Amino acid sequence: MCGIVGYIGNKQAYPILIKGLHRLEYRGYDSAGIALLDDDTNLHVYKTQGKVANLEAFCKDKNISGTIGIAHTRWATHGEPNDVNAHPHYSQSENLALIHNGIIENYITLKQMLIDKGYTFVSQTDTEVLVQFVEYVKNENNLSLYEAVHQALTQVVGAYAIAVIEKGNPNVLIAARKGSPLIIGIGEDDFFLGSDASPIVEYTKDVIYLEEESIVQITRGQKDIVIKNLDNVDLKQNIQKIQIDLSEIEKGGFPHFMLKEIFEQPKSLLMCMNGRVERQNVVLSGIRENIEKFRNTNRIIITACGTSWHAGIIGKYLFESFCKIPVQIEVASEFRYRHPVVRKSDILIAISQSGETADTIAAMELAKKQGTFIYGICNVVGSSVARLTDSGTYTHAGPEIGVASTKAFTTQVAVLTMMALTIGKELGTIDDATYHRISKELSQIPQKIESILSHAERIEKVSKVFTYARNFMYLGRGYNYAVALEGALKLKEISYIHAEGYPAAEMKHGPIALVDEDMPIVVIAPKFGIYDKIVSNVQELKARNGRIIAIVSEGDDRIAKIADYSIEIPDVEECLTPLLTVIPLQLLSYYIATAKGRDVDQPRNLAKSVTVE
Ligand code: AGP
Ligand code: GLU
Repeated sequence: MCGIVGYIGNKQAYPILIKGLHRLEYRGYDSAGIALLDDDTNLHVYKTQGKVANLEAFCKDKNISGTIGIAHTRWATHGEPNDVNAHPHYSQSENLALIHNGIIENYITLKQMLIDKGYTFVSQTDTEVLVQFVEYVKNENNLSLYEAVHQALTQVVGAYAIAVIEKGNPNVLIAARKGSPLIIGIGEDDFFLGSDASPIVEYTKDVIYLEEESIVQITRGQKDIVIKNLDNVDLKQNIQKIQIDLSEIEKGGFPHFMLKEIFEQPKSLLMCMNGRVERQNVVLSGIRENIEKFRNTNRIIITACGTSWHAGIIGKYLFESFCKIPVQIEVASEFRYRHPVVRKSDILIAISQSGETADTIAAMELAKKQGTFIYGICNVVGSSVARLTDSGTYTHAGPEIGVASTKAFTTQVAVLTMMALTIGKELGTIDDATYHRISKELSQIPQKIESILSHAERIEKVSKVFTYARNFMYLGRGYNYAVALEGALKLKEISYIHAEGYPAAEMKHGPIALVDEDMPIVVIAPKFGIYDKIVSNVQELKARNGRIIAIVSEGDDRIAKIADYSIEIPDVEECLTPLLTVIPLQLLSYYIATAKGRDVDQPRNLAKSVTVE
């Protein structure tokens, strides 16, 4: 979901800005641009539709000197992706250049007011209205750039992370955020801006995660920056250390970030469980400190989007099994608008890898208004979700660069499992033997994933058979129903093949009409409770010429005999099977998508974090 990079200091800005845009490419975008103040303080804006490489080619013969600049990757919301609608946008006089992540919701009203005052527009974007409005306020009131941005933003409705520079004013960089993330990097004698840490981390690990509704003035040569809120009140400058290394945001020899992150899952799960799962015990401080809330609640509401919602479904099954607390699972974008009944006695658990998903944040804010206790499961330190919660647990999966979520999902499920075990133990709703057995098995999951990954080549061979399928069906029951949904989403979003996840027993209620030799069916069938019923489901599908890929327990001698292809997972507790059954499905989708030549890390139309509605 688009990205912002900024620089002011004593180095040439262009190389820092362009490399920063490359580091943000994973977020998904459709165009890119850069604005620089050259050594004569002239303002230059260069921007192109398409990849950052297009922008670099365009800049080849341009004046790219200067030590202050801003740069942007756009994910269009208002106005199609093209050169004109790309950012940065000039103000009318071409004295200002502005970049923006987010949506200005009242841009039509502002645009009409400006047109009535003689302003003209070259783009269809809401962002151009914003920069024109800043210039209008500046000229009308003879304000400094900071004052003009501040005054303009008090009249803007919507979400934004912005950066602005001004012709003839090479010592000042202005930035602001509301509803979209923005980080300031503090160098030796220079400053950096980034939508996340990835464009900043190679220069400094000292950062300020801008608070909501902050406006910043960074002045060249001044150690202290000015940070105020929309009421012009000074805000504390909370300098923190970035917790990632540069190596974590590079591919490390893998062809794609997604494959790297699939193979990182043993390590990311170890990081996630480090200090939390010790031998046969689970220690989750966020839960321990708030256990009375879980003891006294009548309902847990889990809300999220996409893959995180799939993890939430598994959370529902875990909490109801181990904690005997009723759980409602909600797609955040539906929950926020359907006037849900939310009570102070409820607990809302929000799950989000990026911590910036607009619908999930809105769902949290809705519950917060009711005084509901909000617990967050998030992967990005200092993100909006992390800051909105009353308490929470970081997944510590490390940066997830591939748009298709993999290690975030498995660490989310691991956190939900640790939460359910901790609560169940404290509430006495899970017996000690079960608690210790599952805790021990959870600690062994990383090496079980390693063993599945060691068969990646076999999974790649199977995927080659189905590269040209046009539809897929994924079936699972119990804990693996959510894995069926997740497997289908993985395939859809990176191979562009239509796929559907379904509860296995539901096939007879309609979808079995779809079954023929042209539609591969993935059946997730580890040997547990209702295994016999899944055997029947598979036989019904085979009887109708279905082509079956079965995910089975090691040594399975029934389904493996019926299916066309079977992929084994090590034996494990039923409630922990999602952590294993999802791995072959991640690899299957990856290999099919790469065989089809898809842009696996930045699939078309998608963004890593959906920070707009
Ligand atoms: C999953 O592969 C997708 N990238 C998408 O569904 C994602 O899970 C969803 O947008 C939620 O993102 P979040 O976890 O950052 O809130
Ligand atoms: N709403 C702005 C536009 O459509 C910004 C989109 C973005 O966040 O990249 O240009």
